[in-house]
Amino acid sequence: GRRVTVRDLAAAKERGERWAMLTAYDAMTAGVFDAAGIPVLLVGDSAGMVVYGHESTLPVTIDDLLPLTAAVVRGSSRALVVADLPFGSYQSSPAQALESAARFMKEAGAHAVKLEGGRRILPQVEALVSAGVPVMAHLGLTPQSVNVFGGYRVQGRGQAGDELMADAKDLERAGAFSLVLECVPGDLAQRVTTSLAIPTIGIGAGPATDAQVLVWQDLMGLTPRPAKFVKQYADLAATMDRAARAYADDVRSGAFPAPEHTYS
Ligand code: KIV
Ligand code: NA
Repeated sequence: GRRVTVRDLAAAKERGERWAMLTAYDAMTAGVFDAAGIPVLLVGDSAGMVVYGHESTLPVTIDDLLPLTAAVVRGSSRALVVADLPFGSYQSSPAQALESAARFMKEAGAHAVKLEGGRRILPQVEALVSAGVPVMAHLGLTPQSVNVFGGYRVQGRGQAGDELMADAKDLERAGAFSLVLECVPGDLAQRVTTSLAIPTIGIGAGPATDAQVLVWQDLMGLTPRPAKFVKQYADLAATMDRAARAYADDVRSGAFPAPEHTYS
C-alpha cells in the first residue's frame, strides 16, 4: 500500500472523519504505530525532552532530529511522516526555512514539515509551499516561545483568541495543509476548526478539532507528570520497571539464562 498523503487528510475532513496523530522518534516504535493504522507520525522537537533529556525544545538542532526522522521513515510504510523544524532553523528568512526543510526531505525522507507561529512566519510558509513542501502550522502554546509566554500555559484566552483566529486564516491562505492547536480553550479550537477548510489537530484543545496528537511517551505512561490534557492508555513505566527488576533478580539468582536460552 501507498503512504497517506496531505490530500487524504483533506478528504477526511470533508467526510467528517477524525484521525489520530502520534509522535515517533525511532524505527521500531514507528513500525508499531504504523501497523496500528496511525496515519500521521510527527518527529517532534519534543525529542529534545523525551529523547535527549533537555528541559525544553530550545536546544534541539537539525542534526539531532535528522537521524530520528530517517529512522521513523524507514520504520513505517503507510504513515505520512512530518518533521518538526527546530528553534532557530526557520525564523531568520524564507531561504533559511527552505534550506532546513530540504535537509529533512532529502537526507531523512520526511514528507512534510511543521513550524511554529502565525503571521510572522507567513513568508516562510509561502516559500515552502511554493517549493513543494507541505507545511503543518502550529499555533497556541508554541513551546519554542516558552520564554516569551513565561511558562507552559493555556494560550488564546479572551482577545488573544481573535488574534489566533486571524493567524489561523492567514496560515491557511499561505498554503498550510493542516494546523496544530496546542493548549487553547476548547471553544476557540471549535471556532477555528469550523472556520478553516484545512484539518486542525488538537493537543490540549478539546474535542472539536479534526484530529488529535499526543507525545507517545505521555499516552503510554512513561512521562512522570503528564499535563492535564493527556489521557494515559498504558502504564509502560510500571511494566518496564517490573521487567527490569525481574531480569536483575533472575541474573542474581541464576534463573536466567536457563537451558532454553543457552546454545549447546
Ligand atoms: O514536538 C512535538 O511533539 C509537537 C506536538 C506535541 C504537536 O510539536
Ligand atoms: Na514540536
